[in-house]
Amino acid sequence: MDKGVRKSPMLDPYKIREDFPIFSSESGKNLVYLDNAATTQRPRQVIEAIKWFYENKNANVHRGHYPLSEEADRLYEEAHERVAKFIGAQSWEEISFFQNTTHAISSIAIPIVEWGLSQGKRRILLTVMDHHSNMLPWRRAAELIGAVVDYVKVTEGGYLDMVDLERKMNDDLILVALPHASNVTGAINPVEKIASLTKKYDALLVVDGAQSIPHLDVDVKKMGIDFLAFSGHKMLGPFGIGALYARKDIAEELTPVITGGGTIKDVTLEKIEYANLPYRFEAGTPNVAGAVGLVAAIEYLENIGKKNIFEHEMKLLHELRKMLEEIDWIELYPKKTFGEHVGTVSFNVKGKNPHIVGKVLGDFYNIALRTGLHCAHPYHYAIGAGEGTVRASFYIYNTEEEVEYLVSSLREIKSKYLS
Ligand SMILES: Cc1ncc(COP(=O)(O)O)c(C=O)c1O
Repeated sequence: MDKGVRKSPMLDPYKIREDFPIFSSESGKNLVYLDNAATTQRPRQVIEAIKWFYENKNANVHRGHYPLSEEADRLYEEAHERVAKFIGAQSWEEISFFQNTTHAISSIAIPIVEWGLSQGKRRILLTVMDHHSNMLPWRRAAELIGAVVDYVKVTEGGYLDMVDLERKMNDDLILVALPHASNVTGAINPVEKIASLTKKYDALLVVDGAQSIPHLDVDVKKMGIDFLAFSGHKMLGPFGIGALYARKDIAEELTPVITGGGTIKDVTLEKIEYANLPYRFEAGTPNVAGAVGLVAAIEYLENIGKKNIFEHEMKLLHELRKMLEEIDWIELYPKKTFGEHVGTVSFNVKGKNPHIVGKVLGDFYNIALRTGLHCAHPYHYAIGAGEGTVRASFYIYNTEEEVEYLVSSLREIKSKYLS
């Protein structure tokens, strides 16, 4: 591919690529990386921040009174503050670190449902479009402690059915949990509007931000979100670090289920007194280096600006959709877009297994895409893609040339290998 000629007016993906060592590595130099919804690549700044921590500040936190440990404490606490500012939380105490989105939601599901039951409520409202990570923890919590689960349907195009949502809301609702943006269609849900409904019924709004925080400006207070989880590795940060925003007045009333070292103020053989927020949810030794790397990722993204990131992705998204819409042997999900989307496009070559399409694109064209059911089986069944889809997902270093290369490669494989 001829690289380096065109650039986006909003941000320069070619310049950005220079910060990402993978793109000049042996495995990455001709790689067209379109699997960003699974995990992003990491810039030098993040890799160096982690290295800096291990080489200069490595000590466990909350245990030592020697200077190195206190410095690690300070860095770790500052990381909570930085994340709080990034998503508009009121205080650092509202941020707890977990391994990832899945771990954050799994850790909080039972405490929230238990709290809801204690308020005399019984129902949990999920959506058909949820990733399994924001579906199974609630189902398991309901099964274990006796709540009832219901699901908001999606429309034929895969958008959240707002009429069905309103129909299913009542005073018995503990919470509504949903993805801010879908990892399959990229559809963005109207979180603020849904927050005004949850407030009306005194229910909690739990948002899976795994696919929105990397791309959109999110302000939890302004948007009326009560809990929000996201993963560092989907926003240029390290693996093994994710965050949970938990509204303070509710979180203070929750009893953790993953407990042990670090989560308590005092323990006797008769009683347990849990630690203040946020540490009551952070059991065991945390990923301090990961938190430092996450801060570097936030700073990198803020330097570019979320608005620029979103506009860049929209340009690539519209370009890809426009090209694919013109091909009659491609099935797009959804066929036509209505609301807003993040930079994720799922499609199929009609009549062909998505894994085969992905394998050929990977092996012969060095294009990295995700194929299959993307941990969202019910959603795929609902949109009529029971065998799965091929998913291209963009980020800041993707280019228009890569979009064109994907489409020309698809055309070539169709005639060479798939006819
Ligand atoms: C919408 C959504 N939620 C949750 C997750 C789970 O993220 P993690 O594997 O980082 O826990 C993903 C991952 O793809 C996702 O796309």
